[in-house]
Amino acid sequence: MKLSTKHLLGIKDLQKEDIETILSTAKEFKEVLQRPIKKVPSLRDITIVNLFYENSTRTRISFELAEKRLSADTINFAVSGSSAAKGETLLDTVNNILSMKVDMVVMRHSASGAPHFLAKHIPAAILNAGDGINEHPTQALLDAYSMTEKFGSLKGLNVALVGDIMHSRVALSNIYLLKKMGANVTVVGPPTLIPKYIKEAFDINVEYDIKKGLQWCDVANVLRIQLERQNQPLFSSLREYNLSYGVSRKLLESLGKEITIMHPGPINRGVELDSDVADGTQSIILNQVENGVAVRMACLYLLSDKN
Ligand code: CP
Repeated sequence: MKLSTKHLLGIKDLQKEDIETILSTAKEFKEVLQRPIKKVPSLRDITIVNLFYENSTRTRISFELAEKRLSADTINFAVSGSSAAKGETLLDTVNNILSMKVDMVVMRHSASGAPHFLAKHIPAAILNAGDGINEHPTQALLDAYSMTEKFGSLKGLNVALVGDIMHSRVALSNIYLLKKMGANVTVVGPPTLIPKYIKEAFDINVEYDIKKGLQWCDVANVLRIQLERQNQPLFSSLREYNLSYGVSRKLLESLGKEITIMHPGPINRGVELDSDVADGTQSIILNQVENGVAVRMACLYLLSDKN
């Protein structure tokens, strides 16, 4: 099984068959993760560097665990404490690391397009762990895996992406993936957080009324308000945002149907999602995190020379 691409830079570049291959391979690796010995030799003698130029909890730990479960050798690079802090360029840093015979690079960067730039200049396979406001492909894949696990198929599923669509790489990767797999997509949020071109560009629905958006969907993937990416205020206060667009227990109970709640994390509790919803029975947020390891094992394995 081979993917049609050498790198995993974004869902935009993947074929439907690539996504199906990743999800079916992840299913096999999830079975491995249920065993008493959760380790396979699939990537023995492969060396992977995890380059994180931006903060991360879930993605960084999940990739590192996936690499260890596959028996790869791993190196972790964080920008603080490295020579990048002294002004070394991204390309110099990576070329120095590659000269130590590294096979694959996992990279998170605050600049959109940083992994695409590297892919043009280095021979190693690159996996994008989130680039600026562009894409977060493994998050969309683990979201897809989690929805498929619960609903059997993405085809015809009604998925609402709720909140800060404008600044969300998770939203863009999910839109690409869900459209390729035949799901119906509605973005829900305030007009200031939804790009004006999005409806025509992606052939999706836009809904500014959160109750209507939630009544329409089977699954609501609630996105983090990304204050660090907003150069100017796009709503008057977090309290007002919570009152207008926060997903609360009261709102869910008013829908007259049960929907599934997802969130990529980290959660702003009491802003986009109330704690009793995040931790409630309709939430599959921790299943998403669990599935992330198997999905990243699949991506690493399928992009490696060992496959
Ligand atoms: N979902 C996600 O990307 O979380 P982290 O920023 O903690 O990796």
